[in-house]
Amino acid sequence: MKPGRALLPLLLLAAVVACTGRTDLTGKWVVEKALPRPAGPDGETPEGPPGGGPLMDAVIALQQDGTNLTGALGTHMFDRPISDGTVKGDTFSFVLKMEIGTQKMEIPFSGKAMDDKIELTVQPPGDMPPMTVLLRRATDEEVLARAGTVPERIEPPEIQPLPDNGLARTPPMGWNSWNCFHLDITDAMIREIADAMVESGMRDAGYVYLNIDDGWQGERDEDGVLHPNERFPDMKALADHVHEKGLKLGIYTSPGHRTCGNKEGSYGHEEQDARMFAEWGIDYIKYDWCGAFRIYENHEMQAVYQKMGAILQALDRPIVYSLCQYGMEDVWKWGPDAGGNLWRTTGDIGNSWESMEQIGFDQEPLGEWARPGHWNDPDMLEVGNGGMTHTEDRTHMSLWTLLAAPLLAGNDLRDMSPETLETLTNPEVIAINQDPLGRQARRVAQDGELEVWAKPLEDGRVAAGLFNRGEEAAPVTARWSELELGGIVQVRDAWARKDVGAFPDGFTAEVEPHGVALVVLKGR
Ligand code: GLA
Repeated sequence: MKPGRALLPLLLLAAVVACTGRTDLTGKWVVEKALPRPAGPDGETPEGPPGGGPLMDAVIALQQDGTNLTGALGTHMFDRPISDGTVKGDTFSFVLKMEIGTQKMEIPFSGKAMDDKIELTVQPPGDMPPMTVLLRRATDEEVLARAGTVPERIEPPEIQPLPDNGLARTPPMGWNSWNCFHLDITDAMIREIADAMVESGMRDAGYVYLNIDDGWQGERDEDGVLHPNERFPDMKALADHVHEKGLKLGIYTSPGHRTCGNKEGSYGHEEQDARMFAEWGIDYIKYDWCGAFRIYENHEMQAVYQKMGAILQALDRPIVYSLCQYGMEDVWKWGPDAGGNLWRTTGDIGNSWESMEQIGFDQEPLGEWARPGHWNDPDMLEVGNGGMTHTEDRTHMSLWTLLAAPLLAGNDLRDMSPETLETLTNPEVIAINQDPLGRQARRVAQDGELEVWAKPLEDGRVAAGLFNRGEEAAPVTARWSELELGGIVQVRDAWARKDVGAFPDGFTAEVEPHGVALVVLKGR
């Protein structure tokens, strides 16, 4: 045998090793620890401690075949196959493709293998910073104890339309902790926010619900009682304090075993939790699907939401019921029958013009489903969170007002600029949102990036938004023929709170890029 022949298998092996790296990625991996946050797409390293987010609980099952990588990623919320997996030397990448309601996401992962450990970086969707974790191989018990554990199924009830609970005759207004603070919330902060709601004039402008989102939960005890965590020493005392301020208190839980932030959900304890909320003095519940992805099929949502809806209606306390399942299964068609006062129509809003624009201007087809007591919820406000300019914040507020969307501020009310306060509290802008007719605006005209949306008001006037989504200032025209208005029409500028004049055929405003003219029109 020639020496070259004998070497061939070795050379091939060396080539494979060079191509694929030394660690065979095949196996099940779990997070050993979160590593310091890497720099984001803007090159900036986000502040704050390392965070692994939903990955902390994940089991990542990989199958390496040469340079090809397949597998699945399971968390408390989902178990999804990975796509586009490739291995190059010690590094690899894959994408997690997810579709949640109307939102399609492609979440990129990249990793580096070293000594049977993996450094894995993910760029989460929206405006969350990238995160890096160190993975190690999982034991069988760990796989079971983590994402593998899905509680035993409890059959949801038969579908049976619930009556209207009589609440939320106009879109709910208030504040919610999620957009600004995520899981980092405390009793002290909620009290400060309550003070700020009163002192800033937000309460008197109509913002009365103070809603605690994910992050308040501790553990369930042996009697099944869910205790708040140590940052919320006494929920009843907190509710009393909030009520004394003339505000109402909201809380967050999930029909699943885990919430989106991987806290304890209400699965199997729905009634027990609802009774406890009522005893505390809770006035509003946001019920977020999250862990229920691992328990139920999507088509069972109506029954699952109805279960909590019926429990709430049997309580001796009026509680606004907010459905949060990201607009899946045409929720607007059955949300009211499940007892819902509002239902999210989309995935989570991000703190950016792109996110707000995509969500807000996509709401047009849902207009017919909004009515007093039952509202489309395109997610909470990002006004004042710094991701948008003042002009963009006003556009956001104008669009949400026209959409008859719930107005739930999501900024730090203890520290807001006069412009932010003005954007949130302009009474004429809020009056459009709170109009008792409860109609949602429709898009009546579109010319490229220029759009006119109109919302009929109870007294026969029409509120209209003349939007410029483009990058250059442009004249935007509202034509009376398109608005079903006739004759000379009086135009009032809602932001300026001033009459502009009377016009025979239409009204043209010069609108700045990403801006809006919000007007109220009075025909004959
Ligand atoms: C989901 C919801 C958000 C927020 C978080 C909390 O993502 O859509 O609004 O409640 O969960 O974990």
